[in-house]
Amino acid sequence: MENRPLEYDYTVAKMFMLMTVLLGIVGMTVGVILAWELAFPGVNTLLGQGAAEYTNFSRLRPLHTDSVIFGFTLSGIWATWYYVGQRVLKVSMAESKFLMILGKTHFWLYLVGVAAVVVSLLMGITTSKEYAEFEWPIDIAIVIVWVLWGMSIFGLIGIRREKSLYISVWYYIATFLGIAMLYLFNNMEIPTYFASGGIGAWWHSVSAYAGTNDALVQWWYGHNAVAFGFTVPIVAMIYYFLPKESGQAVFSYKLSLLSFWGLMFVYLWAGGHHLLFSTVPDWMQTMGSVFSIILILPSWGSAINMLLTMKGEWQQVASSPLIKFMVLASTFYMFSTLEGPIQAIKSVNAIAHFTDWIVGHVHDGVLGWVAFMIMAALFHMAPRVFKREIYSKSLMNTQFWIQTLGVVLYFTSMWIAGITQGMMWRAHDEFGNLAYSFIDTVTVLHPYYTIRAVGGTLYLLGMFLFAWNMYKTMTAGRRVEENELQNASPMAA
Ligand code: HEM
Ligand code: HEM
Repeated sequence: MENRPLEYDYTVAKMFMLMTVLLGIVGMTVGVILAWELAFPGVNTLLGQGAAEYTNFSRLRPLHTDSVIFGFTLSGIWATWYYVGQRVLKVSMAESKFLMILGKTHFWLYLVGVAAVVVSLLMGITTSKEYAEFEWPIDIAIVIVWVLWGMSIFGLIGIRREKSLYISVWYYIATFLGIAMLYLFNNMEIPTYFASGGIGAWWHSVSAYAGTNDALVQWWYGHNAVAFGFTVPIVAMIYYFLPKESGQAVFSYKLSLLSFWGLMFVYLWAGGHHLLFSTVPDWMQTMGSVFSIILILPSWGSAINMLLTMKGEWQQVASSPLIKFMVLASTFYMFSTLEGPIQAIKSVNAIAHFTDWIVGHVHDGVLGWVAFMIMAALFHMAPRVFKREIYSKSLMNTQFWIQTLGVVLYFTSMWIAGITQGMMWRAHDEFGNLAYSFIDTVTVLHPYYTIRAVGGTLYLLGMFLFAWNMYKTMTAGRRVEENELQNASPMAA
């Protein structure tokens, strides 16, 4: 199974690898600026009042979220797909001219979309729906890009030599189908210019849904963007890269299938946890809470499966920086998928909602799990794609520790800030008068915001080390053939 007569074509994978690194740096730099703005509001106008329109928090926040989600994470998903897909399906993209053209068109059109997103968000053009800020022309471009990816997935599957579909392929397919459905429904919008016979800007639109319905669809989308953007494709990666890198077979293939179907079924009902104590019907809120708690099972099913894959081989955590990244990623996955269900319990959410504890939850998930796994995947791919050894393993280790410290500072400060905030907002005296004014909470939070900004800056520093190591690997790494690289998993090609 392991003898590899094929020369895989990594042209498109390389293009997306470059975008992953680039957009990771852009998105996280903006995140760091935001963190300093929250700690020191003067940073909003650091470039002067004239530029404040482009540098203030409200303009930059969607630029951060969208560039890390639709830029860094999505590019990472695609970079790995164009690598993993060929290998587990035992077919080279070079075998089909059509698939090569498709892949490259996918990349270039995506690049155009990214440019349009950056420009429009900086200009303040937004639908104002979180994670769905793009106006309809960009939405259409996104749909086309998505269809191109789908054609590439199913095209490759269509000409595969390997009959059975490795579990990662299932997860990639689910990512494709899940996001397609969510994106289409949540972005149903009416272009006002055309609907009104020419009033206003041509790109402007309003949502096709109103009020509570709009909120429901939005959070059905919002949390499933977490499911199909931050969970399913990242699990796809770890199921391929951890066995490959460690040389161990996946602990239990059955468990991987069980948690796959568990995730598919349960995630779709959990979005209501974003709307607790809102105007959506009470039973929907309860359903959101209940399904969120059940969600621990399939989430931990995957994470435990990953950790048990390392059974008997734990010494690799000490010896291999890459295994360290992946084991820490699984651990953070367990961590955030325990924290999320706790926050979804109504009485806990009463304290947590609108506070920085939610931001802490988001970032222990995205920094500890998503970004760590994407970087680990790229580290594994680089020597095979560029045929050069990783330039510096000690730099990898340094990066690992700097970024781990960064995540820990980020989420611990946000936990303390969030719970303090939540408690202060609801504190009252014996007559029912609020004990604190809003500004009291702002003052108390200041040190924690500064600690988060320091943590974020450390994480970004790690990103620069990552980019430097990748660049040096490409240009100065020792030349190496794939068969010289240690690892051979019985499960994956
Ligand atoms: C079992 C799995 C999970 C459950 C049940 C869960 C639950 C929750 C809850 C209750 C909230 C807060 C809603 C609010 O009061 O505003 C939340 C927010 C969020 N979670 Fe999770 N979470 C889970 C896993 C994850 C993971 C693994 C990530 C990322 C890698 C993540 C990313 C987010 C994001 C981005 C938000 C913020 C959304 C927003 O308000 O903009 N979650 N989650
Ligand atoms: C250097 C690393 C990063 C820093 C310093 C950072 C900082 C921030 C800040 C300051 C906010 C705004 C919080 C607020 O409104 O109160 C934010 C929001 C957010 N960031 Fe990051 N971020 C980083 C990396 C990432 C990455 C890698 C991702 C995803 C892959 C991500 C996803 C998000 C999301 C989804 C939100 C919205 C959270 C919510 O609405 O609750 N961030 N980030």
